[in-house]
Amino acid sequence: MCGIVGVVDRNNLASPIIHEALKRLEYRGYDSAGIATIYQNKICLKKEKGKISEIHEKLDFNKLLGTIGIGHTRWATHGLPSKTNAHPQVDCTNKIAVVHNGIIENFLELREDLAKRHNFVSETDTEVIPHLIEEIMAKTKCDLHTATRRALQKVKGTYALVIICTKESDTLVCARNESPLVIGVGKNANYCASDIPALLPMTRKIILLSDGEMATIHHDKIRIETINGEVEVQPKIVNVSWTPEMAQKGGYPHFMLKEIHEQPHALNGTLMIRPEVINKTANVLNDSEKLYITAAGTSHHAGLAGRYMLSKLSAMQSQAIISSEFSESTANLIDEDTTILAISQSGETADTLNAIKFAKDNGAKIVSITNVMGSTISRLSDLTLYTQAGPEIGVAATKTFIVQLASLALISLQLAEIRGMTDNSEIEQIREELFQTPRIVENTIKKHESLIRDIAYEYAYKPNFLYLGRGISTTTAMEGSLKLKEIAYIHSEAYPAGESKHGAIALIEPGFPVVFIAPHDDTRERIIGNIMEMKAREATIISVADENDYEIKKLSHKMIGIPSTMGILSPITCVTPLQLFAYYAATKRGYDPDKPRNLAKSVTVL
Ligand code: F6R
Repeated sequence: MCGIVGVVDRNNLASPIIHEALKRLEYRGYDSAGIATIYQNKICLKKEKGKISEIHEKLDFNKLLGTIGIGHTRWATHGLPSKTNAHPQVDCTNKIAVVHNGIIENFLELREDLAKRHNFVSETDTEVIPHLIEEIMAKTKCDLHTATRRALQKVKGTYALVIICTKESDTLVCARNESPLVIGVGKNANYCASDIPALLPMTRKIILLSDGEMATIHHDKIRIETINGEVEVQPKIVNVSWTPEMAQKGGYPHFMLKEIHEQPHALNGTLMIRPEVINKTANVLNDSEKLYITAAGTSHHAGLAGRYMLSKLSAMQSQAIISSEFSESTANLIDEDTTILAISQSGETADTLNAIKFAKDNGAKIVSITNVMGSTISRLSDLTLYTQAGPEIGVAATKTFIVQLASLALISLQLAEIRGMTDNSEIEQIREELFQTPRIVENTIKKHESLIRDIAYEYAYKPNFLYLGRGISTTTAMEGSLKLKEIAYIHSEAYPAGESKHGAIALIEPGFPVVFIAPHDDTRERIIGNIMEMKAREATIISVADENDYEIKKLSHKMIGIPSTMGILSPITCVTPLQLFAYYAATKRGYDPDKPRNLAKSVTVL
């Protein structure tokens, strides 16, 4: 959470570059923002509560002069969103400015001591950093990077930090511990930011800073060293294949809609993952005695679908556990014979990283699926499979979910082959159908987007929804329900349809909208029974079902028809209508689906 950026450029003003980069980072938090530059030996600072565009309209970030600067977009942890709590935070002398993503755990203790000599103005944990550096520089007359290192040795917690100081008006100092930070190598300019897409218009040459490292960045040189050992680290520059266009809206009103439309392309890319990589992953899973899948939010839904795939296709036993519950629910169960399959599009979700660390400490092997090269999850894993969705900017996960499903299907099919559990011809048939899914998703969008929009507009003001499915479609229902909740702010619940009669059905009254995910698989007869039960109570039935299923069509008030595929692949083909439904319900209600309230894309706090 929180996006940070730093720019040191020999020829250009830093602030407009920071401003644009912050807009690309806004998915990480958007309750306040600010930029500080150094100009004529002074810190020039503009910050305010609100979204970047609102603040820019009021303050005009681009008028800040200076070729070096730092910026921040905030997701509040310590202190309400306000101008004072917005970053950058400065020291008493207004010579040092700091932006921070993470949490300083011992800030109360540090603050209590520093407050005897320093004037604190905000409620943030971050503010201890500029005061600590100020004090160290004043006492020891050392340079900024030494003072930062010494300050960080007193700090406990997580951080990605960028610091500037008027005494060294050509230097950015940055440091990382458990919050993401990358360095961009430019021409006569260098950069750092919370993620790669923020830097893409300036450079595709990236250095991935590791935990426990700090960097001193000038426009023409970068020095990296460890925070504790002061050991110099040779920077390894990676040329990333993502393009600047991938991090822009490309004519769509929102990133979310663009990313839904990109799903066929993202699927195609992911289905091209080299068979050797899939085979290696499948073999590691096969060798484990116990397999746990762990993830959060949408990635957890992919994990749940993965569990159905693994059991149905390859008779592989696994459990899918929400990562924030992982250590509690697997206490005493993890050992050297355990493999963890961790799924995270960002690769930075603190809950998932925590689950991985717990499992690693107990001897487990870690396999991960992520969309971000060099992300923390990949560094903690023994083996990483990279999905190929390109950068996802919209806060609500869409294309990264569909590619997680596709990669889980590839792994499950490979495992089925290795374990000889499914008939070879059936494996081939499912594989062929899997490779058809990009086309099916593309046609579904083309054919049904306007129908889905009309349905969403009609029901956008219903206060409650129920999403029901059976078998693997329960996971699709969960994902559809989450999307509606998080971007349209409509209360919804997802249930296995068979379970609804044990409680949720009590909610049903005439006109209550129930969304059924009812592809033509072996749960169909039973789900028709569940539709009848809801109809008998005068619920409004909206279904996502096989386009040739006239029986379900007759039972539904509205139906979105999808081509039939093998049941196990149905989450891939059924989820797009649900994503579009949530998107159009949100826009009808006047909400910005790219920036849902209280949420941030990369949740780096526990
Ligand atoms: C929902 C959503 C979140 C994420 C969750 C995990 O649309 O985006 O629920 O799925 O925060 O994020 P990753 O996959 O980055 O670990």
